[in-house]
Amino acid sequence: MDAIKKFREERTQCIESLEKDSNFSALSDSWTKEACDRNYQYNFDWLGRPIIQFPSDIVAMQELIWSVKPDLIIETGIAHGGSLILSASMMALLDIKSGTYEPQKRKVVGIDIDIREHNRRVIETHPMFYLIDMIEGSSIEPSVIEQVIKIASEHRSVMIFLDSMHTHDHVFSELNAYAPLVSKGSYCVVFDTVVERFPKGYYPDRPWDVGNNPQSAVDSWMEGRDDFIVDTSISSKLQVTSNPGGYLKRIG
Ligand SMILES: C[S@@+](CC[C@H](N)C(=O)[O-])C[C@H]1O[C@@H](n2cnc3c(N)ncnc32)[C@H](O)[C@@H]1O
Repeated sequence: MDAIKKFREERTQCIESLEKDSNFSALSDSWTKEACDRNYQYNFDWLGRPIIQFPSDIVAMQELIWSVKPDLIIETGIAHGGSLILSASMMALLDIKSGTYEPQKRKVVGIDIDIREHNRRVIETHPMFYLIDMIEGSSIEPSVIEQVIKIASEHRSVMIFLDSMHTHDHVFSELNAYAPLVSKGSYCVVFDTVVERFPKGYYPDRPWDVGNNPQSAVDSWMEGRDDFIVDTSISSKLQVTSNPGGYLKRIG
């Protein structure tokens, strides 16, 4: 057997065995909670901008973008811009052929209800900004959705990252608005499904909690659907992730 194929098959088996490894999952969940207790996910930058993610989820985003090769990424929740810059930098890398940059028509659209002036300034002066559009407004505001749908109509391969307000109703509305734009074979990643695994009251100053969070929204939204699946292989291989059960793949 071809050596690369053999390596991938062995890796798939390893990930499948992780799916059944309840001891390791419990350890990973426990580590994830301990890390969040310490705001670990705030420790990292991507090309100079703070990105509020676990490194493992950053690797998964990189893998998805490289394999799907979208020409449009729509992100809700910009904060300091780290994930926007990650997406834009990956978009740029998609167009390097034999050491030469041959830019195709690609775009990253970020939506945030509150783009702080200091963040806007540094994002707009970042070398990756030429691939980015930012929209200020709520991601579930009809006029915002309308703008995004129009942009999406000009692209052929769309990926979505939902990382804004983490309440059930908000994420459910985002899924209704944006997931239909995802291309077949591409992904809608719903961030912070991990809230469902934390103790009740873990976020005393936030409107989300157990039963009212991105995971509960995904569960309701996925009911009876056959156009998306939860790609559990991604959470299984990551183990430490903010998005267990949040990697949704469009299959139909
Ligand atoms: C977790 S941060 C995003 C982190 C970012 N994706 C990253 O990886 O660095 C959540 C962001 O969602 C934004 N937000 C909150 N409610 C929103 C809404 N209704 N519509 C759009 N953005 C919202 C907040 O202003 C905040 O900047």
